[in-house]
Amino acid sequence: MALLTTILLLWSITIAATTAPVKSLQQLLADADADVPRPPSYTPLPPSLDPWYRAPTTYDWTLTDPGTVLKIRRAPLLNLTVGNALLAYQLLYRSTDSSYNPSWDVTTLFIPRWQARCSASTPALCAHALLSYQLPYDTCNVDASPSFGLHFGEPYGEIADALGLGWFVAVPDYEGPLASYAAGVQAGHATLDGVRAVLQVAGFFGLRMDRAKVALWGYSGGALASEWAAELSVQYAPKMKLAGVALGGLTPNVTSVTEYLNRREGAGLIPQGLMGIATQHPDAYRWIVSRLKPAFRARFLSVRQMTAAQAIGAFMYQDIYGYFVGGYRDLHTRVMQMMYNVDGYMGYHGVPRMPLFIYNAIHDELSDIRDVDELVDRFCGVGANILYHRNTVGTHTQELINGRGRGFVWLRSVLDGSYDSIYSSMGCTIQNVTYNLAPWVGWG
Ligand SMILES: *[C@@H]1O[C@H](CO)[C@@H](O)[C@H](O)[C@H]1NC(C)=O
Ligand SMILES: *[C@@H]1O[C@H](CO)[C@@H](O)[C@H](O)[C@H]1NC(C)=O
Ligand SMILES: *[C@@H]1O[C@H](CO)[C@@H](O)[C@H](O)[C@H]1NC(C)=O
Repeated sequence: MALLTTILLLWSITIAATTAPVKSLQQLLADADADVPRPPSYTPLPPSLDPWYRAPTTYDWTLTDPGTVLKIRRAPLLNLTVGNALLAYQLLYRSTDSSYNPSWDVTTLFIPRWQARCSASTPALCAHALLSYQLPYDTCNVDASPSFGLHFGEPYGEIADALGLGWFVAVPDYEGPLASYAAGVQAGHATLDGVRAVLQVAGFFGLRMDRAKVALWGYSGGALASEWAAELSVQYAPKMKLAGVALGGLTPNVTSVTEYLNRREGAGLIPQGLMGIATQHPDAYRWIVSRLKPAFRARFLSVRQMTAAQAIGAFMYQDIYGYFVGGYRDLHTRVMQMMYNVDGYMGYHGVPRMPLFIYNAIHDELSDIRDVDELVDRFCGVGANILYHRNTVGTHTQELINGRGRGFVWLRSVLDGSYDSIYSSMGCTIQNVTYNLAPWVGWG
């Protein structure tokens, strides 16, 4: 694969300008390529057991800039379990948690099969788009992080489709090392720093850094991470240029989602969300555990070992407030509200500067469409550029499928630069639409 010299030059300058880790990027990559575990004897370990999922100990990584690549390794099986991938690498990078303390996250970078044709003499065949795809993993179990879970295949086929379009695709474990499901600030930072990290190495794989465009995409839990990245970027990554962000099935208000889900099919997402968001708020975590009825405590806490689908199965239609000594009130004390205020309400941290495509089922049963309407109004009132599709048919899970095609068409326009000629690049366009493509699909 071609190494474009101009890009190399650029990167050496960037590296020199930041607090240099002990190893240069070139060296980290060379080490990763020299030390590829050989399938089939190689079995990936879940993050809780894999020592690679630790920050470096040989230097003070907390002094590096957010997005600095701290570790790189090849993921030699992911190009088999995810379609259209030539190679896959994993990067461990410096980020910032919900309390604005240094932390780290992991992202998986997929290089599209098409990139095999890219060389210094055929620059026109080299990729010029990066999609950061936030997978909805919706669990406070770190072993369900995508960097590990993708070894069992991808749930929705969207990574393979994006790679099939010739895009580089990065899939961050945006919940971080504590699996902080539903913690907005953590997820937004992890997503933005994942892009920064990938952009540091993508040039080595022939991504056309001179014209590369970057977009974010996520549905449901993935939209949570993407939306927080979009609104936090103004402050946290002011120099990062994002061409656009596509958001489906939004959950703008964590407390309203909790009320909506209780006693419903997806009630199991409440214990997942509470335990996840509270990993960023130790006082609230201790409070939650202390208020669980002793007879139910172990059952409630067992979500930390479950995937989203398992939790949905285990808690279906249950009254989650009933697990608490003080019921509903226990989830709305001061310590809990402080947590929600920091990590649970979209729309208060900044106005996205890049175009947004938002698609949502009007009859979404996980999140009230009125919360999404309100978020859109709030952003539109202060100059955002949004195309908002309210689908008259379908449930939350169906809209994932109903919206996918429109998501791809929109993302392609922002990534290939045709956006302005197809969509309105000023103000907001709000439409009631009817797309009914999805078969009935249940949870999981
Ligand atoms: C997957 O990647 C490995 C190296 O990590 C490579 O040896 C193998 O040929 C790749 N497989 C495919 C199908 O591209
Ligand atoms: C979130 O939803 C709750 C419950 O519906 C509501 O009382 C609260 O005002 C909402 N908060 C924000 C910030 O929109
Ligand atoms: C969409 O439909 C709702 C009724 O469900 C209506 O109140 C609203 O005005 C419509 N919006 C547009 C943009 O047509």
